[in-house]
Amino acid sequence: MPNLKEKIQTISSELKQQLAHLSQEKELEALRLSFIGKKGAITELLGELKNLTIEEKKEFGPLIQALRQEAEDGIAARKKFITEQQSQAADNQARHFDVTSYVPNAPTGHLHPYTLFIEEIQRIFLSMGYEIWDGPEFETEFNNFTALNIPKDHPARDMYDTFWTDQEGYLLRTHTSPVQARILQQRTPPLAGIAPGRTYRHEAVDASHDFMFMQCEGLLVDKNVTVAHLFATAQTFLRALFQKNTLDIRIRPGFFPFVEPGFEIDMRCIFCKSGCSVCKQSTWIEIFPGGLVHPNVFKACNIDATQYSGLAFGFGLTRLAMLRYGIDDIRLFHSGKLKFLEQF
Ligand code: DAH
Repeated sequence: MPNLKEKIQTISSELKQQLAHLSQEKELEALRLSFIGKKGAITELLGELKNLTIEEKKEFGPLIQALRQEAEDGIAARKKFITEQQSQAADNQARHFDVTSYVPNAPTGHLHPYTLFIEEIQRIFLSMGYEIWDGPEFETEFNNFTALNIPKDHPARDMYDTFWTDQEGYLLRTHTSPVQARILQQRTPPLAGIAPGRTYRHEAVDASHDFMFMQCEGLLVDKNVTVAHLFATAQTFLRALFQKNTLDIRIRPGFFPFVEPGFEIDMRCIFCKSGCSVCKQSTWIEIFPGGLVHPNVFKACNIDATQYSGLAFGFGLTRLAMLRYGIDDIRLFHSGKLKFLEQF
């Protein structure tokens, strides 16, 4: 019966080959069933024995029994090998203790509400084609006042309670408008940008006044810039910031020495429909002062006012952030109180 002999050999080599590749106990069980389970290949061979002659039984009986033993031993050995490997892997993992690894419940730091808010404002103006500018907080009297059409004896200087410094001609800037003067002295139009930053005023501190607060200046200079551009800019910005496509603005005349004409741009109160304490019962919130750049500002900065016109605005960034986030006390911004900061 060369046929049966071949069969035994094939099964034996298949068994060895499959065993060598197994790495899971589940696979090992499947293999056991397919060789020595009820319907396994070796079990079937044993079943065939009864059809053989006595001579053949004597020859193949022991061979098949040996094959069965081989399968049992092979499976047991492989099982031991797999278990050893698994415990070794678990061991290695336990030993690799990584002190820098992530701790799920550790509190992480985050950006200050000012930073978050400035980034939001910058994104909106960048999308309108504005650049981001910066200027020093320690400023010259010329840039802060004189270049902005506020000469030494001008009563408008009374609007600003200035922190003067020991150094003659220098002060802590009272608004972000001096960045306008700096840009106009350095660049040739067309130009457009915003300059968010800190400003200082010698004021008594209460819930709505601080001696240091933030403003954001805006300036756009080109040929034929009109008030329509200013109003559209204000409306586009405020609608994007408060995510309200129907937010209305209203325009009133206002006085600022560095613009002519000058305006107060108000927006509809975002908290009420018929009057509340935020809008002082008027349903309008004064938010966005601006105007067209005064020819005297152009003159002081050597820009030809007959060729160019420009729009300028300078809103209170701190005040806007308070409205945007519903903060009712300005002092919280610099308090370092975690209960406040952790809400952002
Ligand atoms: N600098 C002004 C202030 O602090 C705000 C301002 C008003 C800026 C009108 C402007 C503007 O550029 O056009 O009160």
